[in-house]
Amino acid sequence: MNILLIGRSGQVGQALERLLHNGHDLIALDRSDLDLTDQGAITSAIDDSDPDVVINAAAYTAVDRAESEPELAAAINATAPGLIAEASAAAGAWIIHYSTDYVFDGSGTRPYRESDLTQPLGTYGRTKWEGEEAVRRANAEHLILRTSWVYTWHGHNFLLTMLRLASERDLLKVVDDQIGSPTYAEDLASMTVSIIEKLEIDELNSVAGTYHLTHQGQTNWCDFARKIFALAGIKGVEVEGIPTEAYPTPAPRPRYSVLDGDRLKRVFNLEMPDWESGLRRCIEEGGLARSK
Ligand SMILES: NC(=O)c1ccc[n+]([C@@H]2O[C@H](COP(=O)([O-])OP(=O)(O)OC[C@H]3O[C@@H](n4cnc5c(N)ncnc54)[C@H](OP(=O)(O)O)[C@@H]3O)[C@@H](O)[C@H]2O)c1
Repeated sequence: MNILLIGRSGQVGQALERLLHNGHDLIALDRSDLDLTDQGAITSAIDDSDPDVVINAAAYTAVDRAESEPELAAAINATAPGLIAEASAAAGAWIIHYSTDYVFDGSGTRPYRESDLTQPLGTYGRTKWEGEEAVRRANAEHLILRTSWVYTWHGHNFLLTMLRLASERDLLKVVDDQIGSPTYAEDLASMTVSIIEKLEIDELNSVAGTYHLTHQGQTNWCDFARKIFALAGIKGVEVEGIPTEAYPTPAPRPRYSVLDGDRLKRVFNLEMPDWESGLRRCIEEGGLARSK
């Protein structure tokens, strides 16, 4: 399969590039190859690569900064995905596009299904939702994969922030009333590759649509931090739970954003492991596991 990967330098993009190098003809682009604010460049990049599948792993992901840069966030998260979807449709290619749990307002009380009402609270969530809609409109052969709380060993994420803070302080105060599912970028990428391989075998046009793709189970940021330190064998750091109100941020966060992965299981027969096993593998792969 000819695969065009946009956003190769991000958390998910790097993992995808590594995995897709085996067994596929891959063209992987970063921002210096294709800047998504350059609308004309999007069409030519897709035309030139003659893809079967286009994966868009690029996004404006600075959730708080988006509140002061809404136009830029919209250009990258809403306009560009629509153009990528249009150009991939013209090339007869599938588009695989990532979205977020932040399309929901967090007032739910059970894991969100793909069909549940979206009501983003901030600019990032709103622009990502607009991107979803643009992709749906432009290319019938789309897979929109909503994920959440992504981490790995590079980039900007909660795991790396907690490890840095643990080396600087004895006491960390971490929000304990936002509930979600941490997702290891490597597992997300590997599940994406499994989906692509199923597309290849089955040519299942009827599978097009939106899917929730996160690790299973749920936690809050405070317990996530505690688990990181436990698995990494970091001692002597106290983690105190605080309410969201004690840690105000420019962009409001959903209080509850667990995503139901049932549709992925039903349609693709694929299931993510639980979040603790994802975290354990990440810590081991990073060489930080507590010695036994
Ligand atoms: N991170 C999370 O917790 C999270 C949660 C839910 C959903 N998601 C979604 O999952 C997907 C992957 O996220 P991620 O965590 O891998 O993101 P990430 O690490 O922040 O990477 C984003 C990528 O987008 C690229 N990018 C940004 N602006 C660009 C532009 N103008 N032109 C071209 N490329 C540009 C970045 O390039 P540079 O490296 O040059 O900046 C980077 O490679 C995104 O759709 C995101 O919305 C993420």
